[in-house]
Amino acid sequence: MKYPKEYLDEIKTRLKVSTVVSKTVKLKKRGKEFVGLSPFKTEKTPSFTVNDEKEFYHCFSTSEHGNIFDFVMKTQNLRFGEAVKMLSNLAGIQPYTFSKQDVERENKWKIYKSICQNFSKFYKNELFKNEKSVKAKNYLKERGLSGIEVKNFNLGFVTEDLDYYEKLKKDYDEENIKDTGLFYFDEKKKKYISRFRNRIIFPINDISGNIIGFGGRIIDDNKNLAKYINSPETPFFKKGSNLYNLDKARKLSNKIEDVYLVEGYMDVIGLSKNGIENTVANLGTALTSKQIQILNQFYNHIIICFDGDQSGYKAALRAAENIIDELKPDKKISFLLLENNLDPDNYVNKFGKEKFLEISEKTSIPIHKFIFEHYISQTNESPSSKAIFEKKLREIASNIKDSFVKKYTLEYFLEKVSELTPNINSKYQKNYKIFPKSLAKTKNYYNETKTLKSFELKEFSFLYILLTKPKLINENFHLIDNVKLYSDENKQLYKEILTQSENLSNLEVQKLNIDKNLINRVLSYASVKHIIQKNLSDDLKILEIFSEIIQDLKNYELEQRISELETKFSKDLSQSTFDEIKELKKQQKIN
Ligand code: UTP
Ligand code: MN
Repeated sequence: MKYPKEYLDEIKTRLKVSTVVSKTVKLKKRGKEFVGLSPFKTEKTPSFTVNDEKEFYHCFSTSEHGNIFDFVMKTQNLRFGEAVKMLSNLAGIQPYTFSKQDVERENKWKIYKSICQNFSKFYKNELFKNEKSVKAKNYLKERGLSGIEVKNFNLGFVTEDLDYYEKLKKDYDEENIKDTGLFYFDEKKKKYISRFRNRIIFPINDISGNIIGFGGRIIDDNKNLAKYINSPETPFFKKGSNLYNLDKARKLSNKIEDVYLVEGYMDVIGLSKNGIENTVANLGTALTSKQIQILNQFYNHIIICFDGDQSGYKAALRAAENIIDELKPDKKISFLLLENNLDPDNYVNKFGKEKFLEISEKTSIPIHKFIFEHYISQTNESPSSKAIFEKKLREIASNIKDSFVKKYTLEYFLEKVSELTPNINSKYQKNYKIFPKSLAKTKNYYNETKTLKSFELKEFSFLYILLTKPKLINENFHLIDNVKLYSDENKQLYKEILTQSENLSNLEVQKLNIDKNLINRVLSYASVKHIIQKNLSDDLKILEIFSEIIQDLKNYELEQRISELETKFSKDLSQSTFDEIKELKKQQKIN
């Protein structure tokens, strides 16, 4: 029997891994982690680490790894249920008692799974063995599918005249068969008929690989029949919370950063056949936030690639608006728009894997850009159309849940929108002075800088010194070796500064070929500006400050890299990742 996730999470939030572990292992704090002697092996130097933030322990000498439940199961030889009981007690919450409904639901789920499984097996066999399936087999062949794809995706064919329902009735209650939605009652014939008869069926699995529903395609074009039908919603098949092929695709997420989200079953199979297996499809319904949340658990980058026709474009736009609210700082959503009415299946079969990956790399656009470009293409010259446009963009940005992403998306939109009013902008720019002096302005800037990230402020200081003391920096050029900036705008400016002339000493700020607002930001927000202005002629002092800033930037880079690796490590647990983390941490200390 399964405990509800919420109950287990409640225990986890009340008990840190270090709290549970330290009952039996002596732990010592080291940075964000704890270390101690492994409980799985006798040892003299500690190889056992506990990370509360990431909710896991890991033993480097035995590769044992897990959460609090695993820990007590392994160290005290308990079964899962016993571990839950013990830890709920330690957490001070009531032991979980399964209600009668829980038990009933669990039983129903077992029966449901078993009927779906048998249904799939039976009709897979029919596809291979029944001579009436010849047409279906030929159809699959014509579409370029071999036995490998048919087996991998468990395809089947529901022959027309077979009365599988009667067979099932021998083993299952009618009530339970009805619950699967695989049959419907035909009033005329007065009997249950398979919903999928005369169709090729595509089993749909839940995340753990259990069959929970089916899609079915006709094999003759018939205008009176829907090309595809899907299982109806059932207590165990919720379309908005599942994705076709997720059970397989998620296993690749340790190796691959991105996942393709396509419209159809055949797109998944076509891409997979061509070696692109990190692909899932939504199930003939609108894309939901829930589906994005699920994908985000495994993948950092979702590339949505719908059909390259009108309806695919509309579906993509609707999806973009539905899901932009879910954008997170460390996650990316992009759109890959195909041309000439091709869908991913057609495309990859026509042009191959490399070409598909190439256009994906080169032409997919981030979600905020996709939305912007769509709406701007809908506007005309009239002021009211432009007004509606700006309002719409503001509304879309305002619904984004993450406050940072919200801010920068709005900034992106407004920056673009302001290009529509060049006259108003230029007036504003005439008023602008390089060094804001008045108190009110300073206050304003202070408030604005509060919303900037700390590394951005550091970058401003770095660039400020470059802009104000180019000669000095040129004489000490080695200092800026290997300096890496993170914000895109600052990176642009830095590049422009370095490429403007052969020699930094000849730098002419006025002639930099770059949006003046970027320079303006640096000159206004750099927190070092007062101290630099005060010590303009004290080169030693300025170099000292400059070196400190560079050190901070390098440390930031290390932190980023460590944090990325820790996330990777919590997924792949590889020794080489861990060694890399250790090495970087060492460097951090030296700095
Ligand atoms: P498509 O019509 O694009 O299907 O519908 P496809 O994958 O290109 O199929 P082929 O290549 O013609 O076989 C995309 C998805 O929309 C849903 C199905 O989930 C399908 O895979 N759909 C489509 C339906 O639910 N009903 C339909 O009548 C058509
Ligand atoms: Mn299609």
